[in-house]
Amino acid sequence: MNPDTPLQLLGGLTAREFLRDYWQKKPLLIRQAFPDFESPIDADELAGLSLEEEVESRLVIEHGERPWEMRRGPFAEDEFCKLPEREWTLLVQAVDQFVPEVGELLEHFRFLPSWRIDDVMISFAAPGGSVGPHFDNYDVFLLQGHGKRNWKIGQMCDAGTPLLEHSDLRILADFQQTDEWTLEPGDMLYLPPRLAHCGVAVDDCMTYSVGFRAPSAAEVLTHFTDFLSQFLPDEERYSDADAQPVSDPHQIQHDALDRLKRLLAEHMNDERLLLTWFGQFMTEPRYPELVAGEELEEQDLLASLEQGAILIRNPSARLAWSEVDDDLLLFASGQSRLLPGELRELLKLICAADALHIENLGPWLNDEQGQLLLCELVKQGSLGFANE
Ligand code: SIN
Ligand code: CO
Repeated sequence: MNPDTPLQLLGGLTAREFLRDYWQKKPLLIRQAFPDFESPIDADELAGLSLEEEVESRLVIEHGERPWEMRRGPFAEDEFCKLPEREWTLLVQAVDQFVPEVGELLEHFRFLPSWRIDDVMISFAAPGGSVGPHFDNYDVFLLQGHGKRNWKIGQMCDAGTPLLEHSDLRILADFQQTDEWTLEPGDMLYLPPRLAHCGVAVDDCMTYSVGFRAPSAAEVLTHFTDFLSQFLPDEERYSDADAQPVSDPHQIQHDALDRLKRLLAEHMNDERLLLTWFGQFMTEPRYPELVAGEELEEQDLLASLEQGAILIRNPSARLAWSEVDDDLLLFASGQSRLLPGELRELLKLICAADALHIENLGPWLNDEQGQLLLCELVKQGSLGFANE
């Protein structure tokens, strides 16, 4: 994707301009980002998904058993019949993994790293429905899928921003509106993290939220140090072979801190381990149980592909790759594999192609390491046979 091509999706801005001026900084309203958009899923299908055990869903009822009542799915069909006429919202997470046409929308966001994208959440709201004024810690693109929604935006928030007490949701106690727009199907609003916002359905309305992954600093530190500790022997300890006589034996001298800082830095600065952890962390699937592999022999995989079988990426799998010296790292659904540099084009193909078959795999089918890699990805569940 050329970063200097103006994109309709970004209201005529290029990816470079959008990243420079708006991404993580300020909101952008884009009229007809998706011209003549027609939602590939309707309200009944969305409600149908929320009945499923493996799908994460919520209902927010503004005047429920308590103000801003939130219920978690899966729901029973008759729960929908008992809802009021107005002022409720159904939110379904990761619809891209269950409805291929919704997953295809993400192709338009390829100017951003795919491992930063989390999911496409879809909400259906009855007239007046809203999840209240709030802020999210992530960037979001809010695409209007059906009906109209009025969006108000407000102040930048942080951890100290006051929230309403006794609410199941994180609703702002004080929303300071700065702007407002009504979005119609195909219109899209980009919001940076922590910007207060509130969307109210004008009529029956569906909103698609393309959300992003950004680990918190606390997550980075706890998860990375957990990962690192697997590689550290118990024998490696705080050591002070350079110690000087002490003037007060009860005092912790700053030279002890310097030794600790050296110990921390030695491991924290291990770039290869940091990259391995990060790739694994960012490709962890939202629903690991949906990335289930199958037993397969390499020669059977080869024979099937030669007879026209098609491999597709499991919609629940997440893939990314990186370079380490002359080698490559492939991250697949929370796991990593070190691979020789010669496999670069195959890795790029596996990460990018919707389908893998004899035509695009071509000579890779005669490459021993290539065959092995494809077979391992099927066994791990990141790739699977189409129409099985
Ligand atoms: C919604 O779709 O109702 C809520 C989306 C959001 O505000 O993050
Ligand atoms: Co939000």
